[in-house]
Amino acid sequence: MSHVRLQEVRVFAPATVANVACGFDVLGLAIEQPGDEVVARLSSRPGLRIAAVTGDGGRLPLEPERNTAGVAALALLRRLGRESEGVELEIHKRMPFGSGLGSSAASAVGGAFAVNRLLGEPFPRVGLLPFAVEGEAAADGAWHADNVAPCLLGGITLIRSNVELDVAPVPIPSRLWVTVVHPDIVILTKEAREILPREVPLGTATRQTGNLGGLLCGLHASDYRLIGRSLQDLIAEPHRARLIPAFSAARDAALSAGALGFSISGAGPSVFALCEGEIAARRVAEAVAAAFAAIPLKATPYVSPVNPRGVHVLSER
Ligand code: HSE
Repeated sequence: MSHVRLQEVRVFAPATVANVACGFDVLGLAIEQPGDEVVARLSSRPGLRIAAVTGDGGRLPLEPERNTAGVAALALLRRLGRESEGVELEIHKRMPFGSGLGSSAASAVGGAFAVNRLLGEPFPRVGLLPFAVEGEAAADGAWHADNVAPCLLGGITLIRSNVELDVAPVPIPSRLWVTVVHPDIVILTKEAREILPREVPLGTATRQTGNLGGLLCGLHASDYRLIGRSLQDLIAEPHRARLIPAFSAARDAALSAGALGFSISGAGPSVFALCEGEIAARRVAEAVAAAFAAIPLKATPYVSPVNPRGVHVLSER
């Protein structure tokens, strides 16, 4: 059997909705668009190099040690003892920074996944989790897999433990659609984490646990009403909502337009709704975008089912 070595791999890494309201740091889902593209190619020059970054307005560092995709790829190469392998990365940002869409996670996953594929897949997909989490942590300073895991594995993912990186897939009800609306402001995850209280009262923890359990049961049973009742965040949203102009108007608009539930996507400013069916999801997108337009704030909607496959190869040679 002959093995032809790949020279170049181009991958797509999708945006993700972290927290999904009641699962702070432990639940996330992938959507179809937007997403980043990462290219990895063999190079005759030893070591990892970032050859180009586009779509970032010149803001992302080219040093691999300071770049999320670079850190993830380096972590993988080091684990293999192959850090002197000649590899070049290109990162094409196709989603905004500080958007709550898991932009840094997508680049980190893209970097690890593309390099793993280029090297003939020494790690199984799930084995890339620690490398990608390390890459994302380089961007926001915190260790959580709720964007990285659904971006890597697709679907809706529960992180049972961020320490052990123990993750479990959650079933996707067939009529579940996701509406995400990105208002055109920037919120840095690091700052949105700093405003959260260090401690949560027992009663709040109890109610949040009930909601998370309810959401998981609702997703398992395709019980859309239970999903809707459970989409309440008592931990982060009460503190972060004020960072998003017109947040309560957007929520009222989404719920009046038929959303099952509505909250902040990740650390914001994007907001999301889960909906039953495409028609409802599109109606909700229009209503939420109109609520932002009214103040006025430009906002971009994304409507899709949950993306079941996560990061994938676009082309290779
Ligand atoms: N769980 C994280 C947070 C997601 O809410 O801060 C942001 O990347």
